[in-house]
Amino acid sequence: MSYLIVANWKMNKTNQESLKLITEINNAIQQTSNINVVICPPYTSIVPAAEVLENSSIMLGSQNMSHEAPGAHTGEISVDMISPYCEYVILGHSERRIIYGETNDIVNMKILKALGSKLTPIICIGENIDQRNEGKLDSILKEMLESSLTGVKSFDNLVIAYEPLWAIGTGISASPEQANEACSKIKILLMEHFNKTEKDITTPILYGGSVTKENIKDFLNQDCIDGALIGSASLSSEQFLSIIQTIDTL
Ligand code: 13P
Repeated sequence: MSYLIVANWKMNKTNQESLKLITEINNAIQQTSNINVVICPPYTSIVPAAEVLENSSIMLGSQNMSHEAPGAHTGEISVDMISPYCEYVILGHSERRIIYGETNDIVNMKILKALGSKLTPIICIGENIDQRNEGKLDSILKEMLESSLTGVKSFDNLVIAYEPLWAIGTGISASPEQANEACSKIKILLMEHFNKTEKDITTPILYGGSVTKENIKDFLNQDCIDGALIGSASLSSEQFLSIIQTIDTL
């Protein structure tokens, strides 16, 4: 079993800090075998980080990108600017949706753009606490996933991250059972969308939201969770490496 562990540094780390952290992580986990590690630093650190990681198994991802072609889009970043350095791109993160107004349609356009440039989108979906309490988990996951996948023909180059909004940055993670239940619903939606059986669907499904070295094992021991999308606990080499070491013992 190989796991996919994605570090989302969000709007943290100057270039100097990024390079220090990436070097510490790279030095410590070059030999790791059953873990695919993706680091998503801020845009400013992508190019220098790619140099540090030249002969490394660690891959880079971008935290976002525009769906537009190069041109008059002040402050945006195009797919061509990141695709030479990154293999992944996080799209539809709840912070992008809530703070910056990204709609399902915009997220879908970004996903299609990323796939067209051979970048693997890490598509983030998840419910807020009111939606969960009102019993709307199924309908929210269906709506977000279906709209994300409009026009997507293959499940080969996709990653789905289940990130319940109430667990992001709160220190209160979903329980492993809650996370697994949602990830198994996502798997069924993927089977329906692509008209495939369970064993055909190889799309990794990640859990994200207050993942730590204390709880990572419980998430990865669940049937339908293939990895994690980690925010705060990926910002220090000590915490991130202890997560990786814990996974190594699985
Ligand atoms: P935290 O791990 O800080 O809760 O963040 C999760 C997240 O949003 C990763 O994309």
